[in-house]
Amino acid sequence: MNILITGGTGYIGSHTVVELIKVGHNVIIVDNLCNSDIKVLDKIEIITNIRPIFYSFDIKYSTLLDDLFTKHKIDAVIHFAALKSVGESVTMPLEYYENNISGSIILFEIMKKHNVKKIVFSSSATVYGDPATIPITEDFPLQTTNPYGFSKLVIEQLLRDIYNSDKSWSIALLRYFNPVGAHQSCLIGENPNGIPNNLMPYIAQVASGKRDFLTVFGSDYNTHDGTGVRDYIHVVDLAIGHIQALKYFETHGCELITVNLGTGVGYSVLDVVNAYQKASGQTINYRLAPRRHGDIAICYANPTLANKLLGFKTQFGIEQMCLDSWNFQKNL
Ligand code: NAD
Ligand code: WQD
Repeated sequence: MNILITGGTGYIGSHTVVELIKVGHNVIIVDNLCNSDIKVLDKIEIITNIRPIFYSFDIKYSTLLDDLFTKHKIDAVIHFAALKSVGESVTMPLEYYENNISGSIILFEIMKKHNVKKIVFSSSATVYGDPATIPITEDFPLQTTNPYGFSKLVIEQLLRDIYNSDKSWSIALLRYFNPVGAHQSCLIGENPNGIPNNLMPYIAQVASGKRDFLTVFGSDYNTHDGTGVRDYIHVVDLAIGHIQALKYFETHGCELITVNLGTGVGYSVLDVVNAYQKASGQTINYRLAPRRHGDIAICYANPTLANKLLGFKTQFGIEQMCLDSWNFQKNL
């Protein structure tokens, strides 16, 4: 299939591109490089021996997107392009709504115009807000406390409305838990600009000596060691989930599915620190600090539906996630 990947030079996008090429798909990437590096294309080429077709523009440029759909016969779209920092979204709500929601609307309009009706969308566990119980199943109430999360909720709803209006669409809403780790080639991974917001990239920088210590946000949660618990999922496992979603549509035709992509296992911040120390052989200095505003205590998925519908089963545990993150960090 010819698959258009928006945000394909980004962290999750680049890993998905590699997996798509591996199973024989033709990949076309559009990315405005606002949070990724053009050099990722070289890395993808080294890993796969194939250089994906690349367009560098903002998906909000509808004329350019229209031209792209005219030039290439696109069979399906995987839509990663978005701004993704929760904290930044609180200070820049308009930019987040514009980029994430307006960008998606333009993409869906152009898809409709060109009769491309197959899409896999990057949603997030953030749409569950602070869940009343765990593990989280897909039917849990949706709620959010920040513009980033709200942009995901709106785009999910847009896609549900599109499907309700025209049942010849195939739509997968994939709700990711906490993607971490890197490709085993050490060539692609997560390398955030500035101070990392997320736990594992921060730990990676402490391990490499770039930062002195990790600030552990909250040690008084009702968890086994008082620190926050999350469902960390290896980015390669996550990438494979996208291939499985596309395969699902080949056998099931037009449907809208909503699926959690997580492991079903929760690890605390200190569990991750310990696993990273073991994997890297480095000491991770940390300091306990008050809770981070907006954080929840525990979040992990019930991955049963993903397994049932897609055959999704994660291969990599926390040790491999830390090892691959560390090997990527050392290779930077
Ligand atoms: P990323 O920032 O590494 O990748 C996103 C890519 O999209 C970047 O390369 C960026 O340059 C590009 N982009 C952004 N806006 C664009 C636009 N208007 N036009 C063209 N390109 C644009 O982020 P990621 O971690 O790979 O996340 C991918 C998707 O998964 C996002 O939609 C994100 O919201 C979602 N998600 C991420 C996480 C996570 O923790 N990483 C968790 C849940 C959901
Ligand atoms: C994990 C745990 C922190 C940094 C975020 C988004 C979510 C999704 C994934 C996009 C928490 C603790 C962190 C640090 C710490 N993204 N922590 N010190 O908050 O679960 O999810 O990324 O959709 O929407 O909110 O991930 O990696 O930031 O935090 O103690 O320096 O690590 O408090 O318990 P989070 P995270």
